[in-house]
Amino acid sequence: MILKLDHINKAYHTGKLDVPVLHDVCLHVEKGEYVAIMGPSGSGKSTLMNIIGCLDRPDSGTYELNGEDVFSRDDRSMANIRLRNLGFVFQNFQLLNRQSALENVALPLVYAKVPKKERRERARAALERVGLGDRVTFLPGQLSGGQKQRVAIARAMVNRPSILLADEPTGALDSHSSLQIMELFQQLNEEGVTVLMITHSPDIAAYAGRVCDIFDGVISERNGTVNAAQEAERKAEQEAEEALAKMRKRSADMLRHGSEEKEEPDES
Ligand SMILES: Nc1ncnc2c1ncn2[C@@H]1O[C@H](COP(=O)(O)OP(=O)(O)O)[C@@H](O)[C@H]1O
Ligand SMILES: [Mg+2]
Repeated sequence: MILKLDHINKAYHTGKLDVPVLHDVCLHVEKGEYVAIMGPSGSGKSTLMNIIGCLDRPDSGTYELNGEDVFSRDDRSMANIRLRNLGFVFQNFQLLNRQSALENVALPLVYAKVPKKERRERARAALERVGLGDRVTFLPGQLSGGQKQRVAIARAMVNRPSILLADEPTGALDSHSSLQIMELFQQLNEEGVTVLMITHSPDIAAYAGRVCDIFDGVISERNGTVNAAQEAERKAEQEAEEALAKMRKRSADMLRHGSEEKEEPDES
């Protein structure tokens, strides 16, 4: 299990008001999966993504990322876990506008203390990988939306993270560029990268191998009920039903055979 979130609760505290946002969210992801989380605006997607991305802490709950207990760490160590494991892609690209494509992509390698020459080589290779080998010196303002997002993907992957997190990655793109971005995600996933993508578009979610829905901060698995709380409730109901059926059968048997059997002490 590469990612194991259990019983995550989170509220925002603004002034005297508590705004509950996430309710008992459980999400388990295996290495190599491609998971989409779908939900309407305001349902808590970005809040959840910030927690998964080690950028924020919940009020309660646990999180294991690649075997490491995230919330038991201090902020610095949490940032370290983030740097080693995760690549991020956002709806609005979040590129530095005064830096070239190459410098943008090389930035995570600065934080990882990679020497300058290697940074440039790796950033160039990452840009070639997303089809932008001929745009390395361009500023974000000189690129189309789709190209900007491909720069962002190159930046997300340059540190070779095992997980790619994407928050509405095609939200600002036309359908042709969206398709290109989805093809890139598919290729990365086929190469073994675990992909976790947030979207409110069913067309985009369809690229994922698995879809979870989030609504008012409650997450549920599409095609079934893997949500732990729901599953426990369903099991309890089933057990109660079975116990009742057994009791009915026993009393029916007793009525039928009552006259022939000797009196026995009641077990219950
Ligand atoms: N920093 C914050 N302070 C207070 N409320 C917030 C903050 N961020 C988000 N919220 C509220 O939490 C809810 C979920 O927000 P968000 O996670 O951004 O949803 P989504 O990404 O699904 O649109 C919304 O009602 C939003 O207003
Ligand atoms: Mg959002």
